[in-house]
Amino acid sequence: MKIIAYGVRDDEMPYFKEWEQENPQVEVQLEKRLLDDSTVLEAKGCDGVVAYQQKPYTESVLNKLGQFGIKSLSLRNVGVDNVDNAAVKANNIKVTNVPAYSPQAIAEFTVTELMRLLRRTKKFDQKQANGDLTWAPDQADELNKMTVGVFATGRIGRAAINIYRGFGAKVIAYDIYHNPELEKEGIYVDTPDELYAKSDVLSIHAPAVKENEHMLNDDAFSKMKDGVWILNPARGTLIDTDALIKALDSGKVAGAALDVYEDEVGVFNKDFGSFDKIPDERLKDLMQRENVLVTPHIAFYTKTAVQNMVKFSMSANKDLIEKGTSDKLVEIK
Ligand code: COI
Repeated sequence: MKIIAYGVRDDEMPYFKEWEQENPQVEVQLEKRLLDDSTVLEAKGCDGVVAYQQKPYTESVLNKLGQFGIKSLSLRNVGVDNVDNAAVKANNIKVTNVPAYSPQAIAEFTVTELMRLLRRTKKFDQKQANGDLTWAPDQADELNKMTVGVFATGRIGRAAINIYRGFGAKVIAYDIYHNPELEKEGIYVDTPDELYAKSDVLSIHAPAVKENEHMLNDDAFSKMKDGVWILNPARGTLIDTDALIKALDSGKVAGAALDVYEDEVGVFNKDFGSFDKIPDERLKDLMQRENVLVTPHIAFYTKTAVQNMVKFSMSANKDLIEKGTSDKLVEIK
């Protein structure tokens, strides 16, 4: 059995090596480049493909995999929004993801960023760098006095809820699917609008499906409390960035922590050498605001998560090849 892994980063290498040692019967080819038309030929002769990339898994690439007889594609991440579903189905390719490499990693980061916003640490860091050790006017807010609205109560949303509760916050939630435990606790509101109207903080953990695109738009912001705090560790397309900027300018939104951004592909996880060279003016505008925290999609980025992404995806691919299925199979619609 031979598996090729695409988009392998140096920091993932030790975990691939560990998996190879634990699975000596599998031949593993590690490819640093991403899976696209220029690299797909490398997969010829392999039984399965493991990949992580934000760039699309296109129809033409999936058709080529189909022609090579490859029926197993395992993503090292959770989101499958960049996969061409029709091409996957047309080529009878089975797809797995890693749904729970570490929901806690993302939840912990989200709350960390919220605390940084509420305690104005960006502003204090900036002042201190200029030798200013004064307090005023940056009185902070306390999370224990707030209502946190969690949008989507999947694994990450639920992990975040536990942490918010540890801080003493009141938590409410919206989701089309109700978690039975949370349902019993009466956490759910009936509509997104109700969540917007009642929340001091909005913690967004929804997937990037078509129905959610730009769900936080002018209309949604207008229904929120004045001075709401927005947290998006999920997907950039969930927020209409222009609408967010307007809401920040007007003070409707007190601040935002954005670990994702709708135009992040090709920008995040790249070193441009200096701030000026970042090729996105809107992003730079957000980055320069003292009440906005922009991070380059790093909420997931812990040792535990990266190890699990590599090992779980490789094992899922092996299962697909050996058994034709896996407990991480994604339902492609
Ligand atoms: C995902 O798992 O879908 C993520 O958003 C993390 C990714 C950047 C590796």
